[in-house]
Amino acid sequence: LNIHLMNTFFNVSDLGNLTQALAEVREVKNNRFGFQPLGKNKTLLMIFFNNSLRTRLSTQKAAMNLGMNVIVLDVNAGAWKLETERGVIMDGDKSEHLLEAIPVMASYCDLIGIRSFAGLVEREFDYAETIVNQFVAYSGRPIFAMETATVHPLQAFADLITIEEHKKSERPKVVLTWAPHCRALPQAVPNSFAEWMNAADVDFVITHPKGYELDPKFAGNIKVEYDQRKAFEGADFIYAKNWSCPGVTRPSDYGKILCNDPAWTVDQEHMSWTNNAYFMHCLPVRRGLIVTDDVIESPQSLVIPEAANREISAEVVIKRILEGL
Ligand code: CP
Repeated sequence: LNIHLMNTFFNVSDLGNLTQALAEVREVKNNRFGFQPLGKNKTLLMIFFNNSLRTRLSTQKAAMNLGMNVIVLDVNAGAWKLETERGVIMDGDKSEHLLEAIPVMASYCDLIGIRSFAGLVEREFDYAETIVNQFVAYSGRPIFAMETATVHPLQAFADLITIEEHKKSERPKVVLTWAPHCRALPQAVPNSFAEWMNAADVDFVITHPKGYELDPKFAGNIKVEYDQRKAFEGADFIYAKNWSCPGVTRPSDYGKILCNDPAWTVDQEHMSWTNNAYFMHCLPVRRGLIVTDDVIESPQSLVIPEAANREISAEVVIKRILEGL
């Protein structure tokens, strides 16, 4: 395989040729401990501004597969509270500025993974990736996203791997469906899923209530089918996810919950409209809101192999970055 070197990992384009990346996935999955010389005496720093189960465990496991040392920092559980704005008088509860903290953290490691969710208050602040871009600018280290304000590429890569492993036709129909939730959630997962499906060889459809249109930077020209039943017809994969209003059509609605209609919850009746589709979700998932128990527990549910593939997507990404150090 030709090696595609990476210094950052945020978007599908960072991975280069997708067919080549999927061949590398198979190579890594068949020999996940075979690249340990790459990681020897190299340190990954994983920085979490937000909670995580899968990303934390799968990324750490991937780095250990590669022979690396790993440091995990939960910023909100033991570190100094960080100021992110310049020009402020720091007389509040924030003891350290990000602009000192970043180079200090970088001095202890060779590459950095960051989780920093959208605040869902100011669309411009979130969509400019204000926090993560400071790490890119001031760390001097390769940076990869472990879910940022707008993207979750390790998840989308694992989703693509899972679809490739389960598809029964050359070009399967993949449907991203919005589903209701009790809290306002960011758009990072649907943004990346849309971006990656647009790059993959699939028949991709998005369905959601009006007002939830994703940013065209990620959704591209994909037509939205507002009739969920029509969207589900003939589907081979149903990818459910809640997201709050992206504020594309009405910026003042950014981050709001516009709909909580339970008719959008994916249940057995919804799945009966499909081509015996597989059910996917990135997890964590709230049963009874996004999906019913019987659908997520059915033989068609891929949520566990999908989560397991997070180890593989992370290992391919970290391996690529190590190859460029
Ligand atoms: N899917 C995902 O990123 O899970 P965590 O939030 O638990 O890491």
